[in-house]
Order: sequence, then C-alpha cells, then structure tokens
Amino acid sequence: MKIKFILLACVVVFGFLGVCQGTLHKHFYKHSCPRAESIVQRIVSQRVLANPRVPARLLRIHFHDCFVRGCDGSILLNSTANNTAEKDALINLNLASFDVIDEIKAAIEKACPGIVSCADILALAARDAVSLQYKRSLWVVLTGRRDGRVSLVAEPPINLPTPGMNFTQLKQNFATKGLGVKDLTVLSGGHTIGIGHCFLFRGRLYNFTGRGDQDPSLDPTYAAFLKTQCPNNNNDFNSSVEMDPRSSTNFDTHYYSNLLHKKGLFTSDAALLTNNHAKRTVKQMLKTRRFFKAFAKSMKKMGRIGVLTGTAGEIRKQCWVVNS
Ligand code: HEM
Ligand SMILES: *[C@@H]1O[C@H](CO)[C@@H](O)[C@H](O)[C@H]1NC(C)=O
Ligand SMILES: *[C@@H]1O[C@H](CO)[C@@H](O)[C@H](O)[C@H]1NC(C)=O
Ligand SMILES: *[C@@H]1O[C@H](CO)[C@@H](O)[C@H](O)[C@H]1NC(C)=O
Ligand SMILES: *[C@@H]1O[C@H](CO)[C@@H](O)[C@H](O)[C@H]1NC(C)=O
Ligand SMILES: *[C@@H]1O[C@H](CO)[C@@H](O)[C@H](O)[C@H]1NC(C)=O
Repeated sequence: MKIKFILLACVVVFGFLGVCQGTLHKHFYKHSCPRAESIVQRIVSQRVLANPRVPARLLRIHFHDCFVRGCDGSILLNSTANNTAEKDALINLNLASFDVIDEIKAAIEKACPGIVSCADILALAARDAVSLQYKRSLWVVLTGRRDGRVSLVAEPPINLPTPGMNFTQLKQNFATKGLGVKDLTVLSGGHTIGIGHCFLFRGRLYNFTGRGDQDPSLDPTYAAFLKTQCPNNNNDFNSSVEMDPRSSTNFDTHYYSNLLHKKGLFTSDAALLTNNHAKRTVKQMLKTRRFFKAFAKSMKKMGRIGVLTGTAGEIRKQCWVVNS
C-alpha cells in the first residue's frame, strides 16, 4: 500500500519513475518475510563466533559489491562457462566467507522463497558481523535492493580503489560513487579490522624509490616490524599482517591513532594525512562516538550506491548464480 502510494506520487509529481528509483526502506521485509533480519543475525553470530575473521571479510565484500555496478550482489556471482565474473578479478581473489552468505540465503529461502535479495543479505550480514562485539547494531541498513544479473571481471579494476593510490586518486575514485572526502576518510576506518597482504605494500619497506629505501611516511619502528613479517621476496604472495596490529578483530578507532603515528599500512591509508580536510577528519575520528556516528552515516550512503529497486533486476534463488 505504502509502496504503491510512493510509486504513484513519483509518477504524478515527477512525471516519470526515474526520479524515484533507488529508494530503500527500513525493514522492507517486515511483512513479506518478517524473520529475514533475525535469520541473518542468528547465522552471522554463529559464524563470527566460530571465526573472528568473518566480519572483516563480509565488510570488504559489501564494499567491493557497492563500488562495482552498485550494491546489487554482483560480487556474489560465480563465473560460468560463458562469463568470467567480478569474483575472479585479481583485486577480489582474497575475498572470502561467501559461504556465510550462501548459508543465510538457504535459510531465508526456506522461510520465504523468492523474497529477500542477496544484495540485502550481504548488507545486513556485514553490519551484523561488525556489530556483534557491541551487541547492538552499529548502523542502520535500509533494504529493498534487488539483485543484478551482470558480473564482469573487467569492472572491479576500473571501479575499485587500489592500495597504491595517492589522495587525489582516492578522492576522484570516491567522487565517481557520489562519496566525498569525509566518506573516504571515515570508511577507510574499516581498516581497523582485517588483514593486508605483504605484496600490496612491500614496496614501502624495501624499495620505495627503486634504490632499496623505505617510505619516509612510514614510522621506522613499524617498518622494521613489518619487515619481520614480510620477507624481501617479490614472489611471496602469501604473507600477510593485521592492518591494525593486535586489534584486528576489534572495530575501534585504532586505525586513526595508528595513522597519526605514521603506522598506516597502505600508501592509500597514509595518503589521508596529505590533505588538510582528511587529516582534520582523522583527528576527529579518534573519538569513538564520533567515529561510530560518522561510519553509520557513510555506510548508509555507500549502501545505496546504484541500487536496483522496484522491478529492476531480480531476487536470486541462489546468490552465486542468476535465475534461469
Ligand atoms: C579507500 C580506499 C581503499 C583501499 C585502497 C582499500 C584497499 C584494501 C586492501 C589492499 C586490502 C587488503 C586485501 C588483502 O591483502 O587481502 C583491504 C582490506 C580490507 N578493506 Fe579496504 N580499501 C579501501 C577502502 C575500504 C572500505 C571503504 C572498506 C569498508 C568500509 C574497506 C574494508 C576492508 C576490510 C574490512 C579489509 C580486510 C579484509 C580481510 O581481512 O579479509 N576498505 N582494503
Ligand atoms: C562459487 O564460487 C566459490 C568461490 O568463490 C566457491 O567456493 C563455490 O563452491 C562456488 N559455488 C558453486 C555452486 O560453484
Ligand atoms: C553460453 O552461451 C551460449 C551461446 O551464446 C548459449 O547457448 C548457452 O546457453 C550459454 N550457457 C550458459 C550456461 O549461459
Ligand atoms: C597522484 O598520482 C597521479 C597518478 O600517478 C599523479 O599524476 C599525480 O601527480 C599524483 N598526485 C599527487 C598529489 O601526488
Ligand atoms: C628496486 O626497484 C628498481 C626499480 O624499479 C629495480 O630495478 C630493482 O631491481 C629493485 N631492487 C630490488 C632489490 O627489488
Ligand atoms: C601459499 O598459499 C597456498 C595456498 O594457501 C599454498 O598452497 C602455498 O604452498 C603457499 N606458498 C608458500 C610459499 O607458502
């Protein structure tokens, strides 16, 4: 009823539907699948308790979904005989815990088949996983996304930011997604959880300018520590470190205190100190309450990038394959 009214209003007031596309709602499945959100929460908490790396993985999958074709679950699709999917792009090879999404989807399909999108499940699961340690939701996830039918291996590398980017490039990348410098700085705080592979920052340790030197924007003591974890071997793609040393499963403000002590892991992290606006935000984010509030706001923004709603796309039956 309410949705019909909104759609009608869009047609009458704006003359066409385009203006009203992309509208998400709080508890979109309240009537159509009342248990959807609690099923997500239940399975996520089981899986996070069994493996503390799950929150970082789900948060990163959600981010990589939203930046490529919008938050449409395209990252969840597997390659087929005819198509190599986003998942198989180099930048996505270390994504993991897709099976958590599949487990949730199977349980929800049992309760209410064909109602809840994979894109929404991913957005909810990322939120619930990160929030579990606080026993309360850290941000609101609006729902009503639908699933895309297209996933192309060529798209992640031209849409996602990379760890070697400088501030100008990061700002530009986020701007193409409708996100500003504040969002860039606040969402980078996601790096307070999870790991980073040595091959992505080794150049900062051993050969910064091509003369066997170190990145001067990296704290020397921290660089020495990183060298103990990351061998000087360009063929090593396995080694990794916690991005937020000793607290990589805690969603906290350490990312920002590390950053201010020149202990940002990637060039893209350190880059946030090279811009006055971003640097000011970094300092504000040292206060937990401000960080959580700002993170909630920016996640909401990220979560509605390019979403499919209404009758666009589909509700997949299984998250790794489009409906036949
Ligand atoms: C600002 C631009 C960003 C760049 C250049 C970037 C780059 C990276 C890189 C290179 C890794 C390490 C991957 C690996 O070694 O396996 C990583 C991990 C991660 N990123 Fe980002 N990222 C950015 C923004 C974000 C955002 C916006 C979020 C979410 C809000 C996010 C969440 C994560 C998480 C949670 C991990 C850890 C994944 C794990 O432990 O498996 N990142 N990111
Ligand atoms: C889909 O791909 C994932 C890896 O990304 C793999 O673990 C899973 O088995 C695949 N699912 C199917 C049904 O092929
Ligand atoms: C692959 O493409 C061919 C030709 O376009 C088509 O006949 C076939 O059904 C496709 N297979 C799948 C799995 O999509
Ligand atoms: C950022 O990187 C781009 C591409 O390498 C380069 O053209 C630009 O000069 C760099 N900007 C700054 C401020 O270093
Ligand atoms: C350092 O980088 C330079 C230039 O990219 C390269 O020629 C040299 O082989 C590298 N040295 C090491 C030890 O990797
Ligand atoms: C790297 O990891 C892969 C898969 O986990 C493993 O098969 C391989 O032996 C590892 N290589 C090294 C050099 O540790």
